Amino acid sequence: MSVLSGKKILLGVTAGIAAYKTAYLVRLFIKAGAEVQVIMTPAAKDFVTPLTLSTLSKNPVHSTFYDKKDDNETWNNHVDLGLWADLFIIAPATANTLSKMSDGICDNLLLATYLSAKCKVYIAPAMDLDMYKHPSTLKNLTTLVSYGNRIIPAESGELASGLVGEGRMAEPERIVSFIEQDLLDGLPLHHKKILITAGPTYEAIDPVRFIGNHSSGKMGFELAKVAAKLGAEVYLVSGPSNETVNHTLIHRIDVVSAEEMYSACHQYFETVDIAILSAAVADFKPSEVAAQKIKKKSATMSLELVPTKDILASLGAIKQSQFLVGFALETNDEVANATAKLERKNLDMIVLNSLQDKGAGFKNSTNKVTIIHADKRMVIFELKSKTYVAEDIFNEILNEKYA
Ligand code: CTP
Repeated sequence: MSVLSGKKILLGVTAGIAAYKTAYLVRLFIKAGAEVQVIMTPAAKDFVTPLTLSTLSKNPVHSTFYDKKDDNETWNNHVDLGLWADLFIIAPATANTLSKMSDGICDNLLLATYLSAKCKVYIAPAMDLDMYKHPSTLKNLTTLVSYGNRIIPAESGELASGLVGEGRMAEPERIVSFIEQDLLDGLPLHHKKILITAGPTYEAIDPVRFIGNHSSGKMGFELAKVAAKLGAEVYLVSGPSNETVNHTLIHRIDVVSAEEMYSACHQYFETVDIAILSAAVADFKPSEVAAQKIKKKSATMSLELVPTKDILASLGAIKQSQFLVGFALETNDEVANATAKLERKNLDMIVLNSLQDKGAGFKNSTNKVTIIHADKRMVIFELKSKTYVAEDIFNEILNEKYA
């Protein structure tokens, strides 16, 4: 999944020959999971048809301050369009449009939307080489950068005039990767690696039976999604879970038993910056796994159980600069028990769920947590969906480790 997934993209098309490439650009944005609306300057319609762009973007194309349909006129609100967008991309941006943008002229819908937009604006200039080199164009680009806009540099190549040089609009793939990289660079956990455990573990009794628990894995998967949204590369070590995830920054490692989870965690721990162990690991496993299915021979049956390895404690014992977070599910003396766990396992932070709280715990889609820091500082949160709980957890981590 791209960082553009779920983003609302406003594409502004101006009257350059490169406008024909915006059909493909819209396709790439849609493929990346973005929602797209297009504004064209009136003259841009001579280069690519609104029908093409509305069909590809699945939205009507805006071009004038109002639309006339039969006897009805509908106002195209440039302020609303600007507020709707998470990102405004002006491609191709002609020398004429650059000049107007730099001077604050707004004699068409695209320019009025630019002036009222509060989101990030990316500009992909396109013009002939001498126009691109002209001092007034260079001055306009410098001014536009000083206003906080990002320029996607034009490329060198054959131009519509037949001349060869700099001024060709960046290729659509290049525009998309430029924006993706720029968004990633601005994320607080970009270049950070995070280990997250999720779900239950199954401890085999025989080839068909196991000891397990009701953990859904949802909390760990939500943590992984939030971490990726913040730009981190995530190693998600998951026990058996029906949860799914699809993000280029999330590497899912499926395991079954506590022993397998232990090995996977130790494989990645050394290289990560943060580890969050939210899995509901079985505390005990059968001392022996029967090679064949156990037959019922008598009315009762006993299983000898032995402890599994405590993964969290083992990481706490070897941690260096990693920020280590554990979970504690408690039924009584919650804060005291969780604080004791935090100290015993050498953690930087523990997330406490109390089974006394309705809607908390590992089976629900909601959770109510209290976060306890290493210095015993406590932050109590309301009951909320696990997505928001995951955001709260990362806010605490960011404040503590990267503030
Ligand atoms: N955990 C772990 N490995 C285990 C057991 C637990 O990594 N074998 C981790 C969980 O992922 C969670 C934390 O330890 O982050 C909480 O474990 P919990 O079972 O509540 O703590 P215990 O120390 O086992 O204490 P108790 O069962 O007595 O509450």
